[in-house]
Amino acid sequence: MAKITVGLDIGFSAIKVVALSKEKEQFRLVSLGSIPTPQPGMASDTEEDLENLANAIKKLFAATRIDQRDVIVALPESRVFTRIIDDLPYLSDNELSSAIRYAAEEFIPMPLSDVNLNWQILIRSAANDKNARTVVLVIASPRNVVAKYLKVLDMAGLRPKALETETIAVTRSLVGNNPFSPSTLIMQFGATTTDFAAVSKGLIWFTRSISSGGMALTRSIAQRFNFELNQAEQYKRIYGLMEDQLEGKVVEALKPIVNIIAGEARRVIQAFETKYPSNPIKRVVVSGGGAKMPGMVIYLAGVLGLEVQEADPWYSIMKDKNSASKLAQDAPSYSVAVGLALRED
Ligand SMILES: Nc1ncnc2c1ncn2[C@@H]1O[C@H](COP(=O)(O)OP(=O)(O)OP(=O)(O)O)[C@@H](O)[C@H]1O
Ligand SMILES: [Mg+2]
Repeated sequence: MAKITVGLDIGFSAIKVVALSKEKEQFRLVSLGSIPTPQPGMASDTEEDLENLANAIKKLFAATRIDQRDVIVALPESRVFTRIIDDLPYLSDNELSSAIRYAAEEFIPMPLSDVNLNWQILIRSAANDKNARTVVLVIASPRNVVAKYLKVLDMAGLRPKALETETIAVTRSLVGNNPFSPSTLIMQFGATTTDFAAVSKGLIWFTRSISSGGMALTRSIAQRFNFELNQAEQYKRIYGLMEDQLEGKVVEALKPIVNIIAGEARRVIQAFETKYPSNPIKRVVVSGGGAKMPGMVIYLAGVLGLEVQEADPWYSIMKDKNSASKLAQDAPSYSVAVGLALRED
């Protein structure tokens, strides 16, 4: 029987799950689904809230008929510390490990003993090269954050095969490791945060997370029109950034926050291009639920002056004809879960 891998994305507003099977080097969709996240979800520390969360996950697995217990889970970008260290000479594995520990002291605002440190080598030139250098992507996950995820998974009867950051997962589903794909800015536009990653040659060279996301947009509409949150949410989804709707009033409420997000995108692009001038960003891929906001892709294209696409994490995955159009509607929401399920090892 084909091996099935399961990706689980516990978002602030929705929990998403995707199961894929691998047949002859091709992934095929087995099952997918989502369920609203019981509030306050992972933000809470109480036993009861975490139990509610675990129950929602159990329900989701039952509804999607996924009986695998081994899962790959995402850690939120906003809770981990990610940095590219690019000023190292050629180093052996042992030397690299101590150099990373030393460098990590600088960018991690907590004792090293409180984090799990992982890294991925982006460049390591040959030892005898006279300009030899090593570039690494370092990820520090606070142990208390990891522990909370493990606890919820345990309560849900699941076994974590791996935990990785949202950015690593979306990079896998949206860009893959194609060394020829153009340098890309991925924007992961979730409910509470927007995460940015500059990706080139299939590798992550720059990341950032800001605390403006879809919720902030909804709140802004609620304030402007004196609406309840769920009515504001409807307005956001129906009118979004369409200038010609409701005399542009919804756009007016959304723009200050959208501009914060777009401005950060511009800064990330600039910072990346200053560091790697030979690799300019050629396109932007917008992912996460917020990518579906009417007018968002066009607005970003105008502000950034780049080609902007809505994320399609399903493009490389086999699925039957019936599900293809259904999947397209909600595609950007599944980028993290698909990327997790695509992890191989
Ligand atoms: N059609 C739409 N138009 C505008 N916004 C939308 C639309 N559909 C979903 N959203 C917004 O997307 C957000 C949810 O997206 P997503 O599922 O990616 O977030 P999450 O993973 O739950 O959150 P986070 O990543 O912050 O934990 C919500 O803020 C929701 O309002
Ligand atoms: Mg999310």
